[in-house]
Amino acid sequence: MTTSVMFFCLGNICRSPLAEGIFRAHLKARGLEHEFSVSSSGTSAHHIGEAPDLGSQRVAKRLGEIDISDQRAQQLTAADLESFDYLIAMSRSNLHAARQLKGGERAPLLLMRDFEPKPQHRGQDVPDPWGHGDEAFEEVYRILDRSMGELIDYMLSEREEV
Ligand code: 4NP
Repeated sequence: MTTSVMFFCLGNICRSPLAEGIFRAHLKARGLEHEFSVSSSGTSAHHIGEAPDLGSQRVAKRLGEIDISDQRAQQLTAADLESFDYLIAMSRSNLHAARQLKGGERAPLLLMRDFEPKPQHRGQDVPDPWGHGDEAFEEVYRILDRSMGELIDYMLSEREEV
């Protein structure tokens, strides 16, 4: 049984491609890569088919030796809400947009920063780095990297409860 996970943001070119890449790297480090399937998407259609923003590609390489260049942007669909086990939003506005999609909802919609190690960071948005410099992308990377362990622990603990 694999657990399917969808990370999503607005454009699927900055935050969620990085989340997908960092999630894969954490899984690999823990020997869990065969137990999960991972994807990412955006709530808007603006960037469908595009590779990740160079800011995201660069920071993934530089800080994590992670190659995300093969990813291509896709739009989140109502069908995704039914077919994925978990859908992880980068921001509260992404969550709001996903809730507007028509269709039967099955999977839990979660907010990425609710898995921050420090309680004071929870409930916040992963800031949109689009059009900003390398520092903004680095901040996104660090937020995602420090929150990913708790997210994986949470999914594993839910699996044990079944
Ligand atoms: P992302 O960043 O949602 O993290 O992929 C953005 C990408 C594109 C736009 C906004 C944010 N845009 O307005 O096109």
